[in-house]
Amino acid sequence: METLDALAKRASVRDYMNQPVPKDMLEKLVDAGRRAPSARAVEPWEFVVITERAILDKLAGIISTGVFLKQATACIVVFCQDTKYYLEDGSAATENILLAATDLGIGTCWIAGDKKEYCEEVSKLLGAPGHLKLISLISVGWATREVKQRKRRPLDEVLHWGKF
Ligand SMILES: Cc1cc2nc3c(=O)[nH]c(=O)nc-3n(C[C@H](O)[C@H](O)[C@H](O)COP(=O)(O)O)c2cc1C
Repeated sequence: METLDALAKRASVRDYMNQPVPKDMLEKLVDAGRRAPSARAVEPWEFVVITERAILDKLAGIISTGVFLKQATACIVVFCQDTKYYLEDGSAATENILLAATDLGIGTCWIAGDKKEYCEEVSKLLGAPGHLKLISLISVGWATREVKQRKRRPLDEVLHWGKF
């Protein structure tokens, strides 16, 4: 798939089939994440891939906006060192993963991490070193139905040539 196709097709998927995503595909997603740009090229990220049902269910219980982790067959958790641009860097890595997943036909949804009240509980559950910031959790799985992108704000509404 061309990059622009993946951009146009990517959409959040929250309903998943009970069929695992192969390990080599999960690895490809993390490989895409680590190729993101980062401020001063510090690459502050760490990625935890969870496929254990019991842990996915625990996360679904902790994160009220991520209850669909109960259905997901994997979750990629993005952490970053506490650098000046940790959130931008971690978000770039997260988006790379979403786009790579779209390319591979895998469904994902970005689940908020940074600033959420469950950060500490999630970090503890995953044994994350205390200095790492939770950026995002990405639910991963095969979509149960055709994925359609939501309607976007039109280009001529958001694009301003030269000035507002
Ligand atoms: C920073 C961020 C946090 C998000 N957190 C959640 C979340 O906790 N739970 C969820 O279901 N979706 C979450 N989303 C997904 C958005 O709801 C979704 O991207 C938005 O509704 C647009 O839909 P689309 O992804 O299908 O284009 C998050 C997205 C971003 C960028």
